[in-house]
Amino acid sequence: MSKTKEIVVLPGDGIGPEVTKEAVNILQTVCERHGYKLKTRTFPIGGASIDRYGRPLTDETLKACKESPAILLGAVGGVKWNDQPKDKRPEAALLGLRKELDLFANLRPIKTYDSLIHASPLKEEIITDVDIMIVRELTGGIYFGRPRYIEKTETGERAVDTKAYTTEEIDRIAHIAFETATLRDRRVTSVDKANVLDSSRLWRQTVKESAKQWPEVSLDHMLVDNGAMQLVRNPGQFDVIVTGNMFGDILSDEASMITGSLGMLPSASLGEEYAMYEPIHGSAPDIAGQHIANPLATIASVAMMCRHSLDMPDAAREIELAIKTTLEDGFRTADIYSDPANEYEVSTSEMGSAVVKHLNPNL
Ligand code: NAI
Ligand code: MG
Repeated sequence: MSKTKEIVVLPGDGIGPEVTKEAVNILQTVCERHGYKLKTRTFPIGGASIDRYGRPLTDETLKACKESPAILLGAVGGVKWNDQPKDKRPEAALLGLRKELDLFANLRPIKTYDSLIHASPLKEEIITDVDIMIVRELTGGIYFGRPRYIEKTETGERAVDTKAYTTEEIDRIAHIAFETATLRDRRVTSVDKANVLDSSRLWRQTVKESAKQWPEVSLDHMLVDNGAMQLVRNPGQFDVIVTGNMFGDILSDEASMITGSLGMLPSASLGEEYAMYEPIHGSAPDIAGQHIANPLATIASVAMMCRHSLDMPDAAREIELAIKTTLEDGFRTADIYSDPANEYEVSTSEMGSAVVKHLNPNL
């Protein structure tokens, strides 16, 4: 009897089910290759869960997630559910999962592929050899801060959100960033808005304090507006970027343009006990059902899962190499297709199959 690897799959909405299907195929392939049996349990989440159970995240789904060493998530959301109250919207499922599983560290690698250099709107000389890891704090900051409310005023309305961070929250994400940097180029850039915000002043001070435990890693600080500019001016200067929840959200979408498409970027959300893997893109309702979504972000997320949760580092490298080779072969989904002379425009499943073929040439 072969050993088993078990994961929970939450396909979600829009293109979520299309891209997770391909990613699960990839995981199946590497598991077989390495002598494991893959067992998946699949649950609806977000809009799909609202349609079925009236709630974006059910207790049953949450319980299954807590029993699993790793979760693969597609994406949630869509116009159909936009007029639900805030805590019943698809996005509430994601924030709920992150909070319930205490997934405080979001790792978002931004790496350019030579063969995709022309897919980016940025100039070739700017983006060649970019290899950044954005470490985003995921369970604090303005997305979770209290109080938050909208109130009536005499002339209209007033809305309040709160950005709050504790030393403990900052210290534990800084820890992940420094640890990550020791396996890379040993440079951490902490991004904040310390010239204006108290929460950022505490951020900067705490990161500085944490840095003392990693004398071999260099640390510098950057204000977020400058950071946004530097990311497109000279992204090669960054190794590890550590930042809060909202700044990380915005900067990583911006950084996706370095690689050319949101459809290329994976992520891992890690806590002390649980881990969730998902592409950084959303449910892309504009292309859902057309079989043109790029599955590579989700496939690369499965590689991160193999590395961080499933104890299959070789499989992680194999998947990453298979993605690279598939791109070198010229396979392109619509979002990264630009050159009819050298590239083939393929569907979501054709892209998935091409990666599988590189992992298992016998197929
Ligand atoms: P989005 O990421 O879904 O799409 C932005 C643009 O990128 C669209 O033009 C889309 O077609 C394209 N795109 C995204 N992923 C792609 C892929 N794999 N292949 C090819 N093209 C791709 O962001 P948008 O449009 O702002 O949001 C749509 C819905 O997704 C909303 O309901 C939003 O709340 C939700 N969302 C969910 C997230 C999640 O589940 N983690 C993250 C971001 C948004
Ligand atoms: Mg985002």
